[in-house]
Amino acid sequence: MVPVMQELPLMCLILLLLCRDLGVGAQESQGFSLQQPETKVSVALGETITLNCTISGLVGPGPVRWLKGWGSETKTIYDQRGYPLARVTRAVAESNTDFTIRIRNAQPEDMGTYYCVKFVNGDKGGYEVFQRGSGTEVSVQAKPNLPLVSGPEQRAEPGQSVPFTCTTGGFFPEKIGVKWFKNKDPMMAQLPRVTAWGAKTYSMSSTVLVTLQKDDVRSQLICKVQHSTLQVPLHERYQLSRILRVPPSVEVRTEPSPVELNRTVTFTCLLKEFYPANVSVSWLENGIGIKVENVFRPLQLSRGLFELKSQVEVQATEEKNGSTITCMVVHDAQAPVNSSAFLLISNPGQGGLSKGFQMGKGASGMGCLPGW
Ligand SMILES: *[C@@H]1O[C@H](CO)[C@@H](O)[C@H](O)[C@H]1NC(C)=O
Ligand SMILES: *[C@@H]1O[C@H](CO)[C@@H](O)[C@H](O)[C@H]1NC(C)=O
Ligand SMILES: *[C@@H]1O[C@H](CO)[C@@H](O)[C@H](O)[C@H]1NC(C)=O
Ligand SMILES: *[C@@H]1O[C@H](CO)[C@@H](O)[C@H](O)[C@H]1NC(C)=O
Ligand SMILES: *[C@@H]1O[C@H](CO)[C@@H](O)[C@H](O)[C@H]1NC(C)=O
Repeated sequence: MVPVMQELPLMCLILLLLCRDLGVGAQESQGFSLQQPETKVSVALGETITLNCTISGLVGPGPVRWLKGWGSETKTIYDQRGYPLARVTRAVAESNTDFTIRIRNAQPEDMGTYYCVKFVNGDKGGYEVFQRGSGTEVSVQAKPNLPLVSGPEQRAEPGQSVPFTCTTGGFFPEKIGVKWFKNKDPMMAQLPRVTAWGAKTYSMSSTVLVTLQKDDVRSQLICKVQHSTLQVPLHERYQLSRILRVPPSVEVRTEPSPVELNRTVTFTCLLKEFYPANVSVSWLENGIGIKVENVFRPLQLSRGLFELKSQVEVQATEEKNGSTITCMVVHDAQAPVNSSAFLLISNPGQGGLSKGFQMGKGASGMGCLPGW
């Protein structure tokens, strides 16, 4: 004798088989209901989308399917009677009431509205829709990529206004915030341009104009990106030293002239406040190259700018009286800049130093000063 409790499921099964065999028509059902409880589901890119659907009651044969979209752009995501798509699995395999599905590795293209649909045999063969769920709108949230800040291709000098651009992409939804800072100070930027990118994510580009200053060697620009998917904003820094060029001021100094015959006279070329350090110094005597005695290494000052000294020693022989000694500087592959001084030798007959001295002027407009 079979206990009553165990008979119940058997009864149901028989009923189910009965209904199927009788081919219950599309319109006939016994308290059939299809529940698609969630209207919205939001997941992060790469996570699993769960789409709930349960049915109860009895209805004629025909599969339950999950469809994406409705109308002309309908795509079958799951078919009870077919092979499941690669990323799609049932939450409760083989269940006849719980048709919840899971879509692994959510992609932007998974966004859309999904319908759980019960089909029954149609009059003209094939299946027809018996009942459709109310639809679940799936949105896939995607974090923006690490922002990238790009500057000009070539170095620029103080006083010039240079554009910098911050870009990021791969995010969803579209709304994104961008803030620029120079060191700690907020900057005015043009409105970011947001464009659709790839399947259903967006990319963003924001530009600021920066007027360079001499003491920007240690300055940095910061682009901060805020998005609904981020707990803390993403930011990217750009050191202005990467694109800043501060040309040196060039000045030749020597000792008070005229100098005594046969003395060794030192000429010093002083390069002040330049950036980057890449500089070459050469010396000319009346336009002809001479050997450099002392080249010092560039010295970095507190503001990040460099300073450099170069020296030559010239024998004050009679034939060199009135010679022009030129310091020629090539900074960062730019056009040469020069500064000159004269070698003036006192007449041995007069003896000692006279009061007069002369100055030479170079391209930089700097003269030479006595006292070096
Ligand atoms: C969705 O279905 C799964 C599997 O049956 C279940 O665990 C979960 O509680 C359901 N969620 C909702 C919101 O109905
Ligand atoms: C200067 O040097 C030259 C050659 O070395 C020498 O002939 C001349 O006497 C020197 N003159 C003085 C004033 O020392
Ligand atoms: C300096 O600049 C020259 C020419 O642009 C380049 O060849 C050289 O490698 C640079 N040197 C340094 C130390 O940057
Ligand atoms: C050098 O030149 C200056 C001016 O041209 C002249 O006064 C001076 O006597 C010269 N010195 C010698 C040693 O010839
Ligand atoms: C120094 O610079 C000036 C101005 O650019 C130029 O005319 C002159 O030829 C330069 N001198 C040398 C020795 O190159």
